[in-house]
Amino acid sequence: MQSLAIVGAQWGDEGKGKITDLLGQKCDVVARFQGGNNAGHTIIVGENKIVLHLIPSGILHDHCASVVGHGVVFDPEAFKEELQTVLDSGCSVTPEKLKISENCTVITMYNRILDGQREAKGPVKIGTTGRGIGPAYEDKISRKGLKLKDLMDKDTLLTKLKANLIEKEVLFKTHYECEFPSAEEEANRLFELGKSVAPFLCDTFSFLDESLQAGKKVLYEGAQGVLLDIDYGSYPYVTSSNTSTGGIYTGAGLPGNHIGEVLGITKAYLTRVGEGPFPTELFDDKGEFIQKKGGEFGATTGRKRRCGWIDLPLLKYTVKASNITSIALTKLDVLSDIEGIKICTGYEYKGKTIDCAYPGINLEEVKPILTEMPTFHDDFKSEVLSDELKHYISTIEKFVEIPAGIIAYGPERSEIKFQKDYF
Ligand code: GDP
Ligand code: IMO
Ligand code: MG
Repeated sequence: MQSLAIVGAQWGDEGKGKITDLLGQKCDVVARFQGGNNAGHTIIVGENKIVLHLIPSGILHDHCASVVGHGVVFDPEAFKEELQTVLDSGCSVTPEKLKISENCTVITMYNRILDGQREAKGPVKIGTTGRGIGPAYEDKISRKGLKLKDLMDKDTLLTKLKANLIEKEVLFKTHYECEFPSAEEEANRLFELGKSVAPFLCDTFSFLDESLQAGKKVLYEGAQGVLLDIDYGSYPYVTSSNTSTGGIYTGAGLPGNHIGEVLGITKAYLTRVGEGPFPTELFDDKGEFIQKKGGEFGATTGRKRRCGWIDLPLLKYTVKASNITSIALTKLDVLSDIEGIKICTGYEYKGKTIDCAYPGINLEEVKPILTEMPTFHDDFKSEVLSDELKHYISTIEKFVEIPAGIIAYGPERSEIKFQKDYF
């Protein structure tokens, strides 16, 4: 297999960072294609924990090139901080190792302010990460966006920022009544920050093209999850990019090639950060226990993640929506020893029983059908899994009709079992 896509099969935070880092050992290029620093991808190596937001999760491997494709919205201030964190961890970051598209859309201070004001003053609170992601994508789609290459020239930057501010100024002054920097101040800030990004800027499409033509192995690293996809997700409680496989074609490029495998990272239960429907959400002690045991706090914002049982109708849908060919089932250790674990195998909806959460179904109105599963007590020290755990895994596999190629049972690189070969 020459290229593999990793996507989140739920509402994000499924463990994509860990799996990308591990498979990164076996490939030549890891490319991000969407999202921005709303992502928080955790990699644990021994005593060290590193959380990546913008930099791809292949960066810890010196043989691997990390690519930030043009579909990513890029906050140069967040990048500067993250670069320092990565360097402080002892990892080398050179222009050979990190390649950022000069066509990434810039997240400006105006985008961040707008995100914050909308969340604070409504009318609809999405529970965003407050990183300016949605407003930056709005600028891109309405053709008002700044590209990273614009940061290299102060005059261009100022001209574009002035044009960009015309409409926003009205919103800031009259609707939100909030402070905002002048175009000159923002141009100066971004121009200075551009110096940190400049060494890494290039034409990443051609780099991927040449890499694929040379037979290199490429891993596309998705951020967020399919249920947060702007088109496939639980709209409007979604992020503003195509988090599913389709986003690769527009956000990075797959010249002359096709994706050999789409690996959907799937938590053994389910979590969500922010607002929006969640049919299997737990509001009892069990939910709290899973939240604590799983350390379910947002890696970007520190918010408590909402927890619930794994929802197979939703998973069946994401498998179809993103052409997922196998899953990696993570955090099985968290469910070990818990009595009365459940999985959702269908919904009662408008007098019918359904097994796939197709679009059009109002997730606020479904009644989940929950099946209790036998408790498993695996400590994962032996190679052999208990019959109860095997049953848990095979029930999921049968339902979604694809295999669990990976099972993960701890945050460390070694706490993983490959049931299938990737790369
Ligand atoms: P991502 O956004 O999909 O990369 O996931 P996050 O990093 O936001 O959240 C996943 C969290 O679970 C991180 O703290 C990981 O270190 C941790 N993690 C990943 N896989 C496992 C696992 O199999 N078991 C446990 N207990 N933790 C895991
Ligand atoms: P990773 O890559 C979980 C959620 C936010 C909010 C919605 C919109 O770590 O899995 P945004 O700031 O993107 O406009 O927020 O999307 N969200 C995530 N939830 N994991 C993420 O990324 C997320 N990135 C955004 O909580 O509900
Ligand atoms: Mg995360």
